[in-house]
Amino acid sequence: MDPILTLRGVSAAYDGTPALTGIDLDIPERQITAIIGPSGCGKSTLLRCMDGLLLEEPDTSVSGDIRLDGTDIRSLRREDLRRRVGLVFQTPTPFPFSIYRNLTYAPQYYGIRDKKALDALVRETLETVGLYDEVKDDLQKSARKLSGGQQQRLCIARALTARPEVLLLDEPCSALDVKSIQVIESLLLRLREQYTIVIVTHNLAQARRIADQVVFLNDGRLVETGDGPSFFAAPQQEEARAFLSGEFG
Ligand SMILES: Nc1ncnc2c1ncn2[C@@H]1O[C@H](COP(=O)(O)OP(=O)(O)O)[C@@H](O)[C@H]1O
Ligand SMILES: [Mg+2]
Repeated sequence: MDPILTLRGVSAAYDGTPALTGIDLDIPERQITAIIGPSGCGKSTLLRCMDGLLLEEPDTSVSGDIRLDGTDIRSLRREDLRRRVGLVFQTPTPFPFSIYRNLTYAPQYYGIRDKKALDALVRETLETVGLYDEVKDDLQKSARKLSGGQQQRLCIARALTARPEVLLLDEPCSALDVKSIQVIESLLLRLREQYTIVIVTHNLAQARRIADQVVFLNDGRLVETGDGPSFFAAPQQEEARAFLSGEFG
């Protein structure tokens, strides 16, 4: 399968201090790629290279080649890149508006004005994340009144309203209880049929449950990539073996 995102020789540094070095990575379309590794190894930095956020930050340098569907992301208009690559953060971050407004914010920004079209999009994205039945009578209620797990699903729905090609998630489950984690995991497995998903997780069991591809980083380097089952059954690199056996992390 063709990769939708490719990184070649990507390095990143904050104020001259390297955070990533020489990353070569392909993100296959319509699969779940899980990025794992010890705290501070560069997982979030790698994710923020993929959506171009890091390219815009002052005091941060990014070098190397990053392509979305073959196009250098530096040559894409920022709004287009933002629309094509969605990002969901660790802590659910609904806007302090109603549920409805959270979901119509991006589409209106991108020019959809028709009320019926907006209503349909709200319903569709809420159904996709399995939230519609839970909130259909409360669409005008503040999104901040939802439970943590509901807020995180709303944030995923909000990312989907822009109809992205790639969905990036940075430890989306770390603030959630076990039940909400299960709901999000089955949601991601369903979304994989339509979207390319890259998830950073510190939860190895989660990576084992949902990842098609695993990327193991350590100290800013990409140590090993492999398909989920083979990586977990038989990691090739000593560092990866040590990490999986809990020797560091
Ligand atoms: N905004 C920033 N400014 C300076 N250093 C940063 C910044 N963000 C991350 N770093 C540093 O870059 C390295 C990688 O961080 P990060 O990508 O957040 O790792 P991870 O997500 O794997 O925990 C760490 O050493 C971290 O301290
Ligand atoms: Mg991080």
